[in-house]
Amino acid sequence: MREKLEKIKSEAMAALSAAAASDKLEALRVKYLGKKGEVTAILKQMGGLSPEERPIIGQLANQVRTEIEAAVAAKASELEKKLMEEKLRLEAVDVTIPGTPVCRGHRHPMTIVLDEVKDIFIGMGFTIAEGPEVELSVYDFDKLNIPVGHTVRDRRDTFYITEDEAVHLRCQTSPVQVRVMEVQKPPIRIISPGRVYRKDEVDATHSPMFHQFEGLVVDKGVTLGDLKGTLNTLVKKLYGPETKTRFRPHHFPFTEPSCEMDVQCFVCGGEGCRVCKGEGWIELLGCGMVHPKVLAGCGIDPDVYSGFAFGVGLERVTMRRFGIDDLRLIYENDMRFLQQF
Ligand code: DAH
Repeated sequence: MREKLEKIKSEAMAALSAAAASDKLEALRVKYLGKKGEVTAILKQMGGLSPEERPIIGQLANQVRTEIEAAVAAKASELEKKLMEEKLRLEAVDVTIPGTPVCRGHRHPMTIVLDEVKDIFIGMGFTIAEGPEVELSVYDFDKLNIPVGHTVRDRRDTFYITEDEAVHLRCQTSPVQVRVMEVQKPPIRIISPGRVYRKDEVDATHSPMFHQFEGLVVDKGVTLGDLKGTLNTLVKKLYGPETKTRFRPHHFPFTEPSCEMDVQCFVCGGEGCRVCKGEGWIELLGCGMVHPKVLAGCGIDPDVYSGFAFGVGLERVTMRRFGIDDLRLIYENDMRFLQQF
């Protein structure tokens, strides 16, 4: 029996030290120490021993049981510790790892300039008006004194939506003038930014879609002096207080008199260079005093009221503002370009 106990002990110790999980450990505990376990079985056989052997084997059996119990307990706490370490390792958050950087966007250069333009005009008491991009020819042409047969109404220039040419993609923001004057009586002071469309080939200065902002002021006693003062304020705020302008006579069907406004070249200061093509001046916008026919057509008496209007290409203003030399860059959304603003 002694040998048997020694064998049980050494087997149990080996098995316990190899146990790698708590369910295995529990199975071993039952195998050796449980009610039907191997050590228990020995203890049950004690009755059959001689009175001399009984205390010796009894002591040995108890000792083996105690040692196996201790080994089970030791293994249990070892496994628990391991489990905890593993759990901590898995759940650990390394606060020193850098986070995913948040990419902050910013406004497109066109939006930056448009916001500035809006601020400048709002500061002078203007409000912002909007009109549709799919426009009636009545508003974009007829009521602006552009008769049927005029070159700008040509199918080669305008994107017509309907066969009868009654609807098209507006080729200027000027129809918003008419829409505003039809519903609002003077005093009127609005600017109207938005997209316009013309059948132009794409190149460094042209695109079939581009942006304009229209301006309109109608009140009693409005003069060409008011027009010049307003537009000079705009360019001085946009390009700096030293900026010089000049007004050249021009023709637009919806204004009389009409002019174009140039700004002195911001590169050469008027000397003449590549940017201004040796002129010293750069054309910026069209403007004029609202034609009496246009006022009357919108129900405003031209004998009582007068007004001025202007139309500006937003791309052109933006390109001048930031020194951008190719219009296509504005639309391509290349991050290497956009990140510079
Ligand atoms: N609509 C004209 C264009 O697209 C620009 C323009 C000129 C607008 C004179 C006006 C104006 O309001 O008075 O070329």
